[in-house]
Amino acid sequence: MSSFTKSSIGRKVLVSLSGLFLMIFLLVHLTVNLMLIIDDTGVLFNKAAHFMATNPAIKVMEPVLALGFIIHILYAAIVTLKNYLARPAKYNKRNSQETGGWASRNMFFLGSTVFIFLVIHVWNFFWKMRFTGDPLLDHITVDGEQMENAYNLVATLFKTSYIYGGLYILGAIALGLHLSHGFWSSFHTIGWNNDIWMKRLKTVAIIYAVIIAGGFTSIPVYYMIFF
Ligand code: HEM
Repeated sequence: MSSFTKSSIGRKVLVSLSGLFLMIFLLVHLTVNLMLIIDDTGVLFNKAAHFMATNPAIKVMEPVLALGFIIHILYAAIVTLKNYLARPAKYNKRNSQETGGWASRNMFFLGSTVFIFLVIHVWNFFWKMRFTGDPLLDHITVDGEQMENAYNLVATLFKTSYIYGGLYILGAIALGLHLSHGFWSSFHTIGWNNDIWMKRLKTVAIIYAVIIAGGFTSIPVYYMIFF
């Protein structure tokens, strides 16, 4: 295992596999979050958030998710640094995967932007819901079950702050651009790289990136327009 993680291809495979795992998380996370705008009473979102926070099978996945983020960020940083140090100073050569579009040449910048967004985001909601609590997280009863009013915490942030709304929109756009390359590149790295499949995967990558960026953007935009 250690020789695998020390080899250049081994590290790239780890970045790709953890990235694919995180892409599945994003689809689930977006689905839950869209309840915020489907139901203005907050009941749907509170039920979904309560289920995600208490269901044992999902709770088991929380440390796995954290590990997925750590592996992805750590090894992406190592791969980028090693590539940078190995690059001849005179000839600013790029490998074939990097010669795609702007996003493919700026994956580290886009990933770092998403990382900064993520730190602020985790502090906004996850940290308060799991550890510190918040006056906005009053306890409510839904269908006879006691739960935290997560809807109140999330909706109030977007209703009261254009700055946070803007930050979430920027985060979603950076994430979409990051995924528009990361999606197909992950499959390419793990060997799914014949010409026909690359064409298809690049199309699916764009569709996936638009769904994720558009979906996450729609939430703050909804509150900016209607509240
Ligand atoms: C409008 C956009 C978003 C909203 C409203 C939102 C909402 C939330 C909420 C309420 C939580 C806390 C869940 C809990 O602790 O039970 C959370 C956690 C989290 N969010 Fe988001 N999120 C958004 C976008 C994103 C994006 C774009 C990413 C990834 C880049 C992300 C990654 C995470 C992670 C890693 C956690 C902690 C793990 C978890 O609780 O599932 N979120 N989010």
